[in-house]
Amino acid sequence: MTMYELIDKKKEGKELTKNELYYIVKGYTDGSIPDYQMSAFLMAVCFVGMTREETYYFTMAMKESGDELDLSGVKGMVVDKHSTGGVGDKVSLVMGPMVAACGVPVAKMSGRGLGHTGGTIDKLESFSGFNVSPTEKEFIRNVNKIGISWAGQTVSLAPVDKKIYALRDVTATVDSIPLIASSIMSKKLASGAGGIVLDVTYGSGAFMKNTDDAVELAELMLDIGRKEGRKMSAAITDMNEPLGYAVGNSIEAAEAVECLKGNGPEDVMEVAYTLGSHMLVLNGKCRELSQAMQMLEETISSGTALKKMVQWIERQGGNKAMVYDTTLFKKAEIERVIKYTGENPAFLTKGNNPEASYIFEKASQLYVSSINGKAIGNAVQILGGGRAAKDEKIDMSVGVRLLKKTGDIIKKQEALAIIYANNEEKCNLATEIVREAFGISDKKIQKRNKIFREIF
Ligand code: URA
Repeated sequence: MTMYELIDKKKEGKELTKNELYYIVKGYTDGSIPDYQMSAFLMAVCFVGMTREETYYFTMAMKESGDELDLSGVKGMVVDKHSTGGVGDKVSLVMGPMVAACGVPVAKMSGRGLGHTGGTIDKLESFSGFNVSPTEKEFIRNVNKIGISWAGQTVSLAPVDKKIYALRDVTATVDSIPLIASSIMSKKLASGAGGIVLDVTYGSGAFMKNTDDAVELAELMLDIGRKEGRKMSAAITDMNEPLGYAVGNSIEAAEAVECLKGNGPEDVMEVAYTLGSHMLVLNGKCRELSQAMQMLEETISSGTALKKMVQWIERQGGNKAMVYDTTLFKKAEIERVIKYTGENPAFLTKGNNPEASYIFEKASQLYVSSINGKAIGNAVQILGGGRAAKDEKIDMSVGVRLLKKTGDIIKKQEALAIIYANNEEKCNLATEIVREAFGISDKKIQKRNKIFREIF
């Protein structure tokens, strides 16, 4: 067997065997298959796809390229949660303490933000002193002691994924459903949890642009997890606009704390309750989702989830005073309010479109019709709050706070958003992007639920 033959076979649309897929992953891991051949193979997959069987074996070969986290020392069944990415997504920070407060162990590994999407580990590091690299022993000890522990994704889990992802990133081969599924599931399976809840996002701020693709990706990942004997479920979540009001590391962490104090935005709480209730059911703590939902709500009303957050931040070396007083989070020097000028900002990007100068003078009421999540994420990245490359240092204090969400009424000269910046030039750039991210309409916009579908 040669890599040339396997690329050719895939190009012809034929199904590769388990042995052939292991040969490819093993060869790329040990360097005997060069980047140019792997790139050709990945591009062939982008065009002709992979069957479920192929995707499963490709995932398993990637998982087996490294270590597997041994969670057998944790008392109780660990259920993991994974989101395929979004903007303003602080759900893990809210749901983790709620689920732990219900007595279900939370032992979670998360990644850092990349491009326009944020990462939980960066948000946790905005609590000063928080250690995101506990040893494996400390990690397990924390879970057994207080019910929750968090760590950055270690390089030893599915290491070939990192190499393949870097190649996909520069060869325009990221947006393939089987490649995304195998990349995510190889790491999730290696993380050792008995159950996995998937939050598959769709919309302008997500990898999947529509619900059909999101459902296909979810079903493929559920299939891989189940073949491996894991309990699985998924929710399909709308990520057209950012989740909540805060986008940026410190302000998102502060918003997560507010959620635990009972002051959370409706959309963040809807997703946190839904995914959290899946976790309680997969763990066996509750039989019904409705019972799980009630249990989670009680952790907020009774304050037990907030107490759990305090315990957790302190246990991992963070400053717990920041949970009691969110004004202690690092602040940016510049705060600029963006006001609505009376035009439709989204049309301004369309050059000579006559609607660009349309001023809604005759409309009795105006509404925010859309907020481009990807654009808001890009603005935060430009401010220094996100990374273009994996190991870049980021500024925790910068961000964008939305003051209006889709469906809200907007009046001329009312504020749309606040930019938090530490550099005037970057602030100017971000201001333009954020302004143009808003769509305004004279038609009433119905607010929609964030959860499109739940799949069991
Ligand atoms: N997240 C991953 O880990 N891998 C992908 O391919 C896409 C999103």
